[in-house]
Amino acid sequence: MPQFSEQFLQELSERNDIVDVVSGYVQLTKRSGSNLFGLCPFHSEKTPSFSVSPDKQIYHCFGCGKGGSVIGFIMEIENLSFPDAVGFLARRAGMAMPEENDHGESKRRERMLHLNRDAARFFHEQLKTPAGQTARDYIARRGLTARTVTNFGLGFAPNTWSSLTDAMKQKGYSERELFEAGLVRQGKSGRGVYDTFRNRLMFPVIDVRGNVIGFSGRILDDGEPKYMNSPETLVFSKSHNLFALNLAKKSKSGYLILAEGNIDVASLHQAGFDSAVASLGTSLTDAQARLMSRYVSEVVIAYDNDGAGQKAAQRAITILEKLDVRVRVLRMEGAKDPDEYIAKFGPDAFRNLLEKSENHVEYRLDSLKANFDLTSDEQKVAFLKEAADIVAQLPGAVEREVYAMRLSEQTGVPRAAVLDEVSRRRKQRARREHKEVQRTESRPVRVAEEPLKGVRIQDTEAAAAERNLIQFLCHDPALFRTREPPDAALFVTPEFRHIYEVLSERAKRGESLDPAVLTGELSSVEFGMLTTMLNAPTELSNSEKALEDCIYILRKKQHGSGNDTDLSALQKQMIEKKGYGG
Ligand code: CTP
Ligand code: MN
Repeated sequence: MPQFSEQFLQELSERNDIVDVVSGYVQLTKRSGSNLFGLCPFHSEKTPSFSVSPDKQIYHCFGCGKGGSVIGFIMEIENLSFPDAVGFLARRAGMAMPEENDHGESKRRERMLHLNRDAARFFHEQLKTPAGQTARDYIARRGLTARTVTNFGLGFAPNTWSSLTDAMKQKGYSERELFEAGLVRQGKSGRGVYDTFRNRLMFPVIDVRGNVIGFSGRILDDGEPKYMNSPETLVFSKSHNLFALNLAKKSKSGYLILAEGNIDVASLHQAGFDSAVASLGTSLTDAQARLMSRYVSEVVIAYDNDGAGQKAAQRAITILEKLDVRVRVLRMEGAKDPDEYIAKFGPDAFRNLLEKSENHVEYRLDSLKANFDLTSDEQKVAFLKEAADIVAQLPGAVEREVYAMRLSEQTGVPRAAVLDEVSRRRKQRARREHKEVQRTESRPVRVAEEPLKGVRIQDTEAAAAERNLIQFLCHDPALFRTREPPDAALFVTPEFRHIYEVLSERAKRGESLDPAVLTGELSSVEFGMLTTMLNAPTELSNSEKALEDCIYILRKKQHGSGNDTDLSALQKQMIEKKGYGG
């Protein structure tokens, strides 16, 4: 656990006002009470449920349940570890970092990045060896130039069990370090390791800061799996990164091209389309979409032409749409993917395709149409209903007119009737969204009943007592001046137990419970639970007795309801001590 002094962390959060910091990422457009609201950057939503409290210096999302201090916010949004987020904010505020506070994790990250860079160099060098002939042949067969090889830092993982391991050990890295970086795997017998990537064309995955964070290895023939990617490590997360974004972010095109395979990306860049990226073996994630939306406001999807590719495109549209990113979809006739298209028809043909690529409304209407037989009146009506719903979502009246006209031409239904249906759908949607807004706006007030996201409540009575105990500890620490907080082992709900453990341990040591100092010890989901609990109104009058009630309930649970002797002894004890039950 990284340890920064309380004083340092408090100063850090004082010098980084949470409203200022969050405003760099989120537009806080609404105010409700003393809280500011905006669209949550951690989940996709259309009405603001992300709140920032200038008083408490915390954020909390009523939609996804995340919450925390300014440090936690930076950890989450910049995808940084606790010490790195502290460093980030210290730099932002011009504060010096206390040297002795580095507790290894940032050193380990740094060393892993070094190792990755050395491994990338090793793979690259292998291309020049006799054993690299198969990879050179493959590169030539795919039409990739020497310039592309350099630009992407391509390499070759030899078809052996330990070439990389041996080379990296020579450079002073341990097997453990190689293992943690995902570059080797543990042998079955438990003893020894072997190279993860063997006989593959290697693509280093480089983040937007230029760090080599992981690798994708493509098989050199038709075998399976086609791609092997680094596992999740301290520095690599598949769902938070995009292949080639380091290059594409410099593009002047104003949009990103989202392709499926790394070979497609390399071919695209080579042909002059320098804004191509690919996800790393998962379908597009929310985090990747947000990452893209930081650089561009338009994405062109250029997935493979097969069924899987088209399905993936639909999913990607849904994800990107939520972020106000304009989406266009490329349709390639006569080739299975961008790489093949460019090889067959040339870059100019591809550019032409890009320029006339459909916006996603056209694309969606066309794919919808394919599901209906428009010669049947019944199906025609069904198609029109769904199509009208797509058109109804367009913000511009002219656009809606244009597409209504087109639908009318396609179906032979009068334009006025189509427009009627569109406006009916529009009103319906507006009503639904209005309701949603009202619900979010009233949330902060009804926070007391807010169910806590991610909590597995087994016993509601115990959970209520546990919540109260946590609130007492935070709101009324004076209660614990003369007595120790009860033991965390009494807790039944596992998520609450951990939160309470952290808080009560700190309280026992007489340490502060300020959000800034808690950040390193609670996850953002736990912090979200905590902020929900702290936002809830508490009945603090007669809190001594209420505290005893809570403890009594939890003790009762622990001893089991069958154990009468213990129970009555306990009760008696309490009556004597605090007048309970009187
Ligand atoms: N993929 C993966 N890991 C990556 C990149 C892609 O697992 N780092 C997956 C994608 O999810 C997709 C497939 O591998 O399902 C790659 O798509 P494809 O276009 O077939 O890859 P290419 O290298 O372009 O191969 P090909 O030459 O056959 O088109
Ligand atoms: Mn491909």
